Amino acid sequence: MGRLEGKVAVVTGAARGTGEATARLFVAEGARVVIADVSDEAAEKVASTLGERALALHLDVGSEADWSHAVEETLHHFGGLDILVNNAGLLHMCAIEETTLADYERIVRVNQIGTFLGIRSVVEPMRSGEGGSIVNISSVDGCWAKNGLIAYSASKWAIRGMTRVAAIELGRFGIRVNAVCPEQGSAEMIAPFVPEGIDATLAQSFMHPLLPNQQSRSNDERVGDIAEMIAFLASDAAASCTGADYAVDSGNTAGRQIQGMPGS
Ligand SMILES: NC(=O)c1ccc[n+]([C@@H]2O[C@H](COP(=O)([O-])OP(=O)(O)OC[C@H]3O[C@@H](n4cnc5c(N)ncnc54)[C@H](O)[C@@H]3O)[C@@H](O)[C@H]2O)c1
Repeated sequence: MGRLEGKVAVVTGAARGTGEATARLFVAEGARVVIADVSDEAAEKVASTLGERALALHLDVGSEADWSHAVEETLHHFGGLDILVNNAGLLHMCAIEETTLADYERIVRVNQIGTFLGIRSVVEPMRSGEGGSIVNISSVDGCWAKNGLIAYSASKWAIRGMTRVAAIELGRFGIRVNAVCPEQGSAEMIAPFVPEGIDATLAQSFMHPLLPNQQSRSNDERVGDIAEMIAFLASDAAASCTGADYAVDSGNTAGRQIQGMPGS
C-alpha cells in the first residue's frame, strides 16, 4: 500500500521539473493527482503517461477565477481534495537597478500571491473533508540571499511566513501547512539566466560544499529527493509536522565551513 493511498492532490506547476517529479511519485504512492499548470500541452502529456489517476487542468496560480475552477473540477472529478502542493514558480535574475516594477510584480504574482490564493482556495474543501496537508515550495533563497534575486528571494521568504500563519490558523481544521526549501530544481528554470558557455546543471552543483558525495548525483536524482520530502509532508506519516520549513539542500544553508580550522 502506498503512502498516499486514497488521497487526492493538486500539484501546481506539475508540467515539468520538481512538480512533475512530485506528481509522478504521488501517483506511484497511490494518490490521484491534478497536474495543474499554465503549460497546457506539457501538462496533458504528463497526465497521459500517468493514466486514470491523473488529470491535467489549466491553472494560472495568480488567477482567482482559475483557482475556483480548478478546485471545482478536482472535487467533481476525484470527489475530494486532501493535498495541495504550491510548487508553481517563476525565476527572475537581475540586478536591483535593472529590475522593473513589472518584473517584480510578475514574480510576486506567481510565487507569492499564487501561494496565498492556493492556500485560501483549499481551506473549505479540506475543512469539510478530513483535513489535509499543504506543502509550499519555497527555496534556499527564502532562507538566505544571493545577488540578482531581489524579487524571487522576497517571494520565497514570504512563502515561509505565509506557511506559518496558515499553519497557526488552519490547524484547528486538521490542515497541516509546511514549506520545503530546495537548493535544486529543474535546470530549465535557471537556464535563461545563465551566461553563455556555462552549464546550468554544473552551476548548481558547485553549491554543495558540505556533502561532497552529492556532487556525483544527477540533477534528476536530487530533484527526486525534493519530491520525497514533499511526499513525506503530504502523507499521514508527517502527522506531527506543521508550520515548519524543511531544507533539501545538502546542508547548504546550515552555515559556513571555515577551511583550515578544526573539523573542516
Ligand atoms: N530550479 C531551481 O534551481 C529551484 C531551486 C529552489 C527552488 N525552486 C522552486 O521549485 C519550484 C519548481 O521549480 P522547477 O525547478 O521545477 O522549475 P520549472 O520552471 O521547471 O517548473 C515550474 C513550472 O511552473 C509552471 N508555472 C509557471 N507559472 C505558472 C503559473 N502562473 N501558474 C501555474 N503554473 C505555472 C511552469 O509552466 C512550469 O511547469 C518553484 O517554486 C521554484 O521556485 C527551484
